[in-house]
Amino acid sequence: MEVKATKKLHRLVVGITGASGAILGIRLLELLRGTEIETHLVLSPAARATILQETDRKISEVQSLADVHYRHGDIGAAIASGSFVTLGMVIVPCSIKTLSAVANSYADDLLSRAADVTLKEGRPLLLVVRETPLHRGHLRLMDLAARSGAVIFPPVPAFYLHPSSVSEMVDHTVTRILLRMGIQIDGLEEWTGGGS
Ligand SMILES: Cc1cc2nc3c(=O)[nH]c(=O)nc-3n(C[C@H](O)[C@H](O)[C@H](O)COP(=O)(O)O)c2cc1C
Repeated sequence: MEVKATKKLHRLVVGITGASGAILGIRLLELLRGTEIETHLVLSPAARATILQETDRKISEVQSLADVHYRHGDIGAAIASGSFVTLGMVIVPCSIKTLSAVANSYADDLLSRAADVTLKEGRPLLLVVRETPLHRGHLRLMDLAARSGAVIFPPVPAFYLHPSSVSEMVDHTVTRILLRMGIQIDGLEEWTGGGS
């Protein structure tokens, strides 16, 4: 049998939803610019609101950080099909509403459809779920999504690197998200031991 070799695909789907922490998604896109990772972005309508509320970025600026961006309602876009091969998908930040859509395969828009496709194709899906405190229904949804293969990755700051600014904390969280996806960004600090 003839096997055709194809070029390596390094596409990463990135969803930004309307949970607090829009900067996490923005920073992730910034760190991937100029790397061999091709980013495919979908913003939810609520994400547009949080970006404007929480940052000084224009929506068009955020979109231009990605290699390709899609309309939230474009359920026929490339990333809605499993035949469009990707490394996986990160939803950062991920609202409880979108967590619910993913957990229940309620693929009513491109963002949740792309997430469902990622799971059905057995590719990594990271949900950077941001809400606090969490009631039992939230925990149940996280469990449901995790049972389908999603990784629940709350953006919990680490203090052992002695961050001196919010941007350092953001970078640390984003670096960990990317590492969990198997992507290492050069020059960003890693823990090499120490302590007691
Ligand atoms: C400023 C702001 C902050 C919000 N923060 C959160 C949050 O941290 N977590 C969350 O689940 N929803 C949060 N919400 C509510 C979501 O935006 C809302 O549930 C929305 O319907 C989510 O839709 P999406 O998942 O399609 O983006 C916030 C809304 C606003 C306006």
